[in-house]
Amino acid sequence: MTISTKPMTTTRFVVEVEGIDLSKPVDGATVAALRKEINEHSILVFRGQSIDNDQHVAFSRNFGDLEIHTVKQYLLPDYPEIIALANRGENGTTPIDNGGAYWHTDISYKAKPPMGSLLYSLEVPPEGGDTMFADMYAAYDALDDDMKARIDDLRAVHGYEARFTKMGEGGKRPKLSAEQLAEVPDVSHPVVRINPETGRKALYVNEGFTLSIEGLPMDESRDLLDTLNAHAMQPDFVYSHHWRVGDLVFWDNRAVMHCATGYDTSYARTMHRTTIQGDMPI
Ligand code: OGA
Ligand code: MN
Repeated sequence: MTISTKPMTTTRFVVEVEGIDLSKPVDGATVAALRKEINEHSILVFRGQSIDNDQHVAFSRNFGDLEIHTVKQYLLPDYPEIIALANRGENGTTPIDNGGAYWHTDISYKAKPPMGSLLYSLEVPPEGGDTMFADMYAAYDALDDDMKARIDDLRAVHGYEARFTKMGEGGKRPKLSAEQLAEVPDVSHPVVRINPETGRKALYVNEGFTLSIEGLPMDESRDLLDTLNAHAMQPDFVYSHHWRVGDLVFWDNRAVMHCATGYDTSYARTMHRTTIQGDMPI
């Protein structure tokens, strides 16, 4: 298999990968090439794919073990590795119509947050429902030297409960059970995250799950987080993906924050996500 890539942004942030059929097993050399691509580019877009759940899981497993999400009512009954972001639900899963509609990095609230996510689109609305991605390497690089010096050794606390509760306002989500809460205690991560394979530094806070900066008074912590989040969301660093049916987007959670956008929910939107386990951030 010979893959080729085509830039989708003027920066190195996003590339389309061509010459690969994800329904077929992928050989080791191609997996290695894709690993190199994702370290280099952070987002790989594969278009015109037609894969079933087994194929989605099999392709994802090339990059590591898969995460099983804490909230089981979102998981496909026969495929716990697949979280269904389906506004009509699917096979009895709880419908999600506002999932991820805030800037976040998937599951950053775990001690070992997932390295990557692979989102595949099965049904999309005619307009809207795009997913925005922010380039956290570029965001870090663009900070001035004073800010870099200020944040380089800071750590931040990440948690799930506050966000889950907020997204469930108005009875949209049940409360997390004691057992679920025990799976997601607050954790602390560096504010500047280094990709161990390339040495590149990324800003590693997000609006969704980052609660506070360790060691700072609450108001100062809030101000700094707001400043960093607002900085990273600037259009210069953001790529917005307009979904077609059959797109699979593989992003690097170590280097990207993302946010779902609105659409007319009278249309079906059905997406499947697998999530690759990752390492302790450094
Ligand atoms: C996700 C996510 C956003 C979207 O799959 O992790 O945040 O647009 N999705 O569905
Ligand atoms: Mn997400």
